[in-house]
Amino acid sequence: MSATPQADLVIVANRLPVDRVTAPDGSVSWRTSPGGLVTALEPVLRANDGAWIGWPGSADEEDVEPFVEDGLQLVPVSLSAQEVEEFYEGFSNGTLWPLYHDVIAKPEFHREWWDSYVAVNERFADRAAEVAAQGATVWVQDYQLQLVPQMLRERRPDLRIGFYLHIPFPPAELFSQLPWRRQILEGLLGADLIGFQLPGAAANFVRLVRSRVGHKTHRDTIYLPDGRPVKATAFPISIDTAGFEELARSEGVVARAAEIREALGNPRTVFLGVDRLDYTKGIHSRLRAYGELVRDGRLDVEDAVFVQVATPSRERVEQYRILRDEIELLVGRVNGDHGRIGRPAISYLHASHPREEMAALYRAADVMVVTPFRDGMNLVAKEYVACRVEGDGALVLSEFAGAAAELRQAWLVNPYDIDGIKAALLDAAAADAKERTRRMRAMRKTVVQHDVARWARDFLSEFNGLPDHHDKTVRRSRAH
Ligand code: ADP
Ligand code: F6P
Repeated sequence: MSATPQADLVIVANRLPVDRVTAPDGSVSWRTSPGGLVTALEPVLRANDGAWIGWPGSADEEDVEPFVEDGLQLVPVSLSAQEVEEFYEGFSNGTLWPLYHDVIAKPEFHREWWDSYVAVNERFADRAAEVAAQGATVWVQDYQLQLVPQMLRERRPDLRIGFYLHIPFPPAELFSQLPWRRQILEGLLGADLIGFQLPGAAANFVRLVRSRVGHKTHRDTIYLPDGRPVKATAFPISIDTAGFEELARSEGVVARAAEIREALGNPRTVFLGVDRLDYTKGIHSRLRAYGELVRDGRLDVEDAVFVQVATPSRERVEQYRILRDEIELLVGRVNGDHGRIGRPAISYLHASHPREEMAALYRAADVMVVTPFRDGMNLVAKEYVACRVEGDGALVLSEFAGAAAELRQAWLVNPYDIDGIKAALLDAAAADAKERTRRMRAMRKTVVQHDVARWARDFLSEFNGLPDHHDKTVRRSRAH
C-alpha cells in the first residue's frame, strides 16, 4: 500500500492523465486519457514535480491507492456507476458542457445531477486537502470541479488555490439559465486566481460576480467582503511545442507520414480533421462542405482526399451517439455517391492514436481543417502548426476557436457558413507555396513563443504578484 503523498504543487482535474484499462483476463494497464487538458498539463506536472488528483476513467473501481506511472505521482479518486451517470455524463457533460458552448445542444437541468456534482466535488476537495503540503499551491482544472476551490479553502485556508477553465465561459445571458448559478460563482471565488482562455470569458465572469453575487470589482479583480482579492484573467493555453517539433522531425514519424500519403494514393492534396467526436467541433459542417466540393467537381477524388480522425468520446451520452450516427451517415453517403474503388472521398477513422501517429498525420496533411462552433482553445490547430517544421502546410480555422485569437494567419472561417468553408478549403489548397509559407512561419513563431511551459509559468508566477492574504487568513482561522 503506498502512502498518500504530500506535494507542493497539486493538480486537481476530473481525469487522471491516464485511464485504467482492465483486460478480460483481469490484468490492468494504463492508457493516455483523451482531450486537450491532459495534453497541456502532463508536461507541466513532469517539469514541476507535483501530484495529480483525478478519476481513473472507469466506474465502480474499488479505491485505488496513489501510484507512480511513467514518473508521474498520481492520486486516484473513484466514482460509482451512478456518479459517472449523474456527475460526469449528467451535470458536467449534459448541463455545463452545452451551456458553456453557446447552447449548441440543449442543456438539461436536473436536481439529482446537481446533488451528485456537489458530492463528487466534495470528494475531490477532501483528497486535495490530504495531498497538499502546508502552504502548497493547488491548481484546480476545468468545469467539472468548479466548487472545489471554495470547498478546499474551507478545509485548508493555508493553501494558494488556482483555478483554470479550459472551455469557454459563457455570457451572462446564457449562464443565468443555470439554477445553481450563484453556487458555481461562489465555488470559483474560493480561488485566489482564476484563469480563462480569452479576455472575453474573464470579463463575463467578473460581470456576473458583480451582478449576481454583488461583490465589488475593479478591472480583473474582485474584492470579497473579507478583503481577499480574487483575480480573474486570461491565460491562453498551449502545447509542448518543442516536444511536437522533435517528434515531427524524428525518422519514424517522417517515414510514417510518407507511408500514410502512399496508402492514400499519393494525392495532390490531403485535407485532415482531428477531433474528439463532439458536437461542438463542427465535423459535420466541414465534411458537408467537402462533400459538396466533390459533388460539384471542384475537387476530384483522384487527387484529393479528406482524412477525418474522430476520437470516441462520451459515448453513453445521447447527443454524442446521435452525432456519431449523423457523421457516419454523411461519410457513407459522400463515399457512396462520389468515391471510386480504392479512392474514397473521405477516409474516416473512429479511433484514438498514439502521439507519434498524430504527428505523422499532421506531417502528411497539406490542409488542416478545424471548424468548431465554439472551442475554448483547440490544441489540434496548434499541434498542426508545431509539426509543420518545414514551414509549409495550410490551416483552415474557425473564428470561434480560442486559437483564432493567436493564429490570425490561418484561413479563418465561420463554421455556420458552408459556402465560406468551401471557399476557404479551395483557397487554402490552391495557395502558392510562398503564401502558405508566409502564413505558416508567422503562426509557428506564435506557437514557439507561447508554449505550455510559458502558460504554466505565467499562471503560477501570477500568484507571486498577488497580495499575500494567506498569512492573515491562516491567523484568523487559527484564532477561531
Ligand atoms: P478537446 O480538449 O476538446 O478534446 P483540443 O483540440 O484542445 O480539444 O485537444 C484535443 C487533444 O486530443 C489534442 O492533444 C489531440 O492531439 C488529441 N487527439 C484528438 N484526436 C485524437 C485521436 N484520434 N487520437 C489521439 N489523440 C487525439
Ligand atoms: O477541456 C476539454 C475537456 O473537456 C477536458 O476537461 C476533458 O478532460 C477532455 O476535454 C476530454 O473529455 P472527457 O474527459 O469528458 O473525455
